[in-house]
Amino acid sequence: MPHALAVDDDPNFLNALAELIEGQGFTTNTATTLQDARERLLHKRPDIALIDLRLPDGSGMELLRELERTRTTEVIMITGHADVDSAVEALRIGATDYLTKPLDVARLKEILARVAQDDPSATPQTSPVEEAEKSGRLGLLLGASEPMLDIYRQMVRVAPTDATVFFIGESGTGKDVASQTLHVLSARSDAPYLPLNCGAITPTLIESELFGHERGSFTGAAKRHKGYFERAHGGTLFLDEISEMPIELQVKLLRVLETGELVRIGGDQTVEIDVRVIAATNRDPNEAVREGKLREDLLYRLSVFPVHMPPLRERDDDLDLLADFFLAQLNEQAETEKSFADDAREAFRAYPWPGNVRELKNVVHRAFIMADETLDAACLPSRLRGGSGAARNLSLAVGTAIADAERRLILATLEQQAGDKKRAADLLGVSLKTLYNRLNAYKEAGERVPEMDGDEAGEGEE
Ligand SMILES: Nc1ncnc2c1ncn2[C@@H]1O[C@H](COP(=O)(O)OP(=O)(O)OP(=O)(O)O)[C@@H](O)[C@H]1O
Ligand SMILES: [Mg+2]
Repeated sequence: MPHALAVDDDPNFLNALAELIEGQGFTTNTATTLQDARERLLHKRPDIALIDLRLPDGSGMELLRELERTRTTEVIMITGHADVDSAVEALRIGATDYLTKPLDVARLKEILARVAQDDPSATPQTSPVEEAEKSGRLGLLLGASEPMLDIYRQMVRVAPTDATVFFIGESGTGKDVASQTLHVLSARSDAPYLPLNCGAITPTLIESELFGHERGSFTGAAKRHKGYFERAHGGTLFLDEISEMPIELQVKLLRVLETGELVRIGGDQTVEIDVRVIAATNRDPNEAVREGKLREDLLYRLSVFPVHMPPLRERDDDLDLLADFFLAQLNEQAETEKSFADDAREAFRAYPWPGNVRELKNVVHRAFIMADETLDAACLPSRLRGGSGAARNLSLAVGTAIADAERRLILATLEQQAGDKKRAADLLGVSLKTLYNRLNAYKEAGERVPEMDGDEAGEGEE
């Protein structure tokens, strides 16, 4: 008979859990503290351990680390919604999965069934994408819409390789979380993951931050400094906002990526590096090349494996799932039981989400604060209450290129005017011909432009 150990400090929850596990044909031991659990482990090694993250005498993570050394027990962490970050850390250390409270009983049963009949040679393993399809998430990424499943498929394929992955997508589409997830899924997950936002540090410092420097190599370099590349040794380096990196440095970066070696500033020795690089941008990389912000040769190198993160407006199926998750997280932190009204969900569906998942998360947070019990449309910011046809806002990050801002403004206006080009041109204060010229250019650049096929494009009647 397979054996399980359940560890949780809440005795009621623990009893219910133990009963459930026994019902699936396991013998079960329970423990309410770390110490308790360690004693149980001395007597009998379980096939599966379900461990609460927060225990009175420490973190369930410690137990996970101990169990991982022998690798004979499958570990599932149990966490609150508020602890998802730690859960991801647990996956990194070696936990097979994590479950959030309240438990998804169907999912737990599936896991137990798999462990119970774990004849390693016989059981067909469900693929991570199939699992993600059921659970609605992969690592830190939530979503079960077709565009997200497609992302999961690509990520699961590329994660175990050392290929440079380039996440491209609008602000708030989850490039950061996708990058972290990729690291967790890779063979490098025990080694460091270092994110560097190329747009956030002073251009003059990026070089020494990335490649390091030797003592005395410039004023202020009092001792040898290891850069991100060296510190990420064996692990993953995430270069966020890559097109913000000064162009001269992009040359140097490309050389490092190609040779796998670097020379610290002021040094003469080459240092071999073993780092998987992930890059991201929220701009159109081809446009960044045209504007001279991104070197074409670097783009080629990064484009070995580009992953286009879908904007939220193309993931309608995920709106409820994401909104529910964010609300559950807030409810748990505040120990409340607030819920959405239908009109709030409708407003979510009608809104185009220019700020993507980040915007949704913020909107839910705001509504949560505004609501007593029920989050209804009245708790939403006015831009979501406008309904169709009303003026909507376009949110632009400071530093957006003018051409980019113009493109988004034009497309948003056209969308708001339901594709009526005359009205859109009037509102924008440009001639219809100008509008058509722009739209044709966007279309040529691969942008999706509404109703441009075979209509009067380029007629130029004004
Ligand atoms: N698929 C997703 N599942 C869960 N959370 C998500 C998802 N996508 C984004 N988020 C959340 O939205 C916020 C923004 O995500 P993230 O920082 O990864 O976006 P980004 O694409 O890097 O944006 P930017 O271009 O502005 O840096 C974070 O709080 C993140 O947790
Ligand atoms: Mg980001």
